[in-house]
Amino acid sequence: MPGLELEGVNVWLGAQHVLKNIDLSVAQGECVALLGPSGCGKTTTLRTIAGFIIPQEGRVSIAGKSTKDLPPNKRNVGLVFQDYALFPHMTVSENVGYGLRMRNIDGKAREQQVEQALAMVQLLHMKDRMPSQLSGGQRQRIALARALVIQPDILLLDEPLGALDRKLRDQMQVELKQLQKKLGITTVIVTHDQEEALSLADRVAVMFDGQIAEIGKPVNLYETPSSLKVMEFLGSSNILSMIVNRREASGATLSGYQTYFIQVEQCTFELDARITAAIRPEHTHILPISELAIDTLEATTVECVYKGGLVEVHCRLSDGTPIKAQSNASSVQRLNLMQQGLKIALRLDPLRLQLFSN
Ligand SMILES: Nc1ncnc2c1ncn2[C@@H]1O[C@H](COP(=O)(O)OP(=O)(O)OP(=O)(O)O)[C@@H](O)[C@H]1O
Ligand SMILES: [Mg+2]
Repeated sequence: MPGLELEGVNVWLGAQHVLKNIDLSVAQGECVALLGPSGCGKTTTLRTIAGFIIPQEGRVSIAGKSTKDLPPNKRNVGLVFQDYALFPHMTVSENVGYGLRMRNIDGKAREQQVEQALAMVQLLHMKDRMPSQLSGGQRQRIALARALVIQPDILLLDEPLGALDRKLRDQMQVELKQLQKKLGITTVIVTHDQEEALSLADRVAVMFDGQIAEIGKPVNLYETPSSLKVMEFLGSSNILSMIVNRREASGATLSGYQTYFIQVEQCTFELDARITAAIRPEHTHILPISELAIDTLEATTVECVYKGGLVEVHCRLSDGTPIKAQSNASSVQRLNLMQQGLKIALRLDPLRLQLFSN
């Protein structure tokens, strides 16, 4: 039995068709991330699951039960929104205990459950503070404790780490993941941050314009997306127009506008088909121009961008097509890649090349 199921959900807000036929099944204890551009319908999906929006068509089931006619407060859903929304006039304990109070859990029982939830987020020692006396990360954790204390069937997180700086965010991501796994709560998390989605979730659903374009395990979605649109949305990619030049049992040869040929093992396209090939910068390797060969591309360096441990080298093919390669500091020095306008050879890892029809 899935922890959460949406079947054929359609939502119109005013005249706008905001959710278009959403099907989503989340296993018990699974964490699914919704990822997509601003306005694609992520928050609307969460609000529909929570019961604040009633879909005009389709069904939402939580823990195997239909939610039809169930108001939000009867759905046993824990919610965390981006702005934490703690009650400013209540202490940390009162904030966390609010949901229990609404359920008429009082006295010692409430106190115990609040303390347990605060211990989970490691903030028990701050139980008597006011929200204004907490840092952003601490407030975030209190909001999480407040959602968890009611022992929800489902945890819905809308950009829960959006307001935190990178370092705190990384730390909270790890904590959140550990907590979610430990408690085994079925979770849907919305985020703008791809890295967050890829690192937190068991599966990621990429949404465009009210529809789920693809759902899958992070590694599959990132390495072998089913469409160019998903590939381009997730991370960085180089896009090249190619023609299927020769087909044989062992694969095919693709050629670009330049005189280079790439031998691939898998190609389902017809001979002479015009296709789009996409490859990640980390699978695009820089060689000295002396190693230019039939299976490499000639390019010119434009700029080196330091990204901590890695260096992204922006290049241009002779027809102007931009292409990014990843390198490290020692190669940058050895090949003198800091120099702009340097001629180099690029090798695209044929096993990592993704081919899409035009
Ligand atoms: N109450 C409303 N009435 C009419 N349209 C709305 C309403 N709420 C949201 N929308 C529209 O629905 C679409 C989806 O909004 P939603 O808030 O779900 O996007 P989102 O994916 O969460 O975006 P973001 O990443 O910016 O938070 C948007 O185009 C938005 O303008
Ligand atoms: Mg939103």
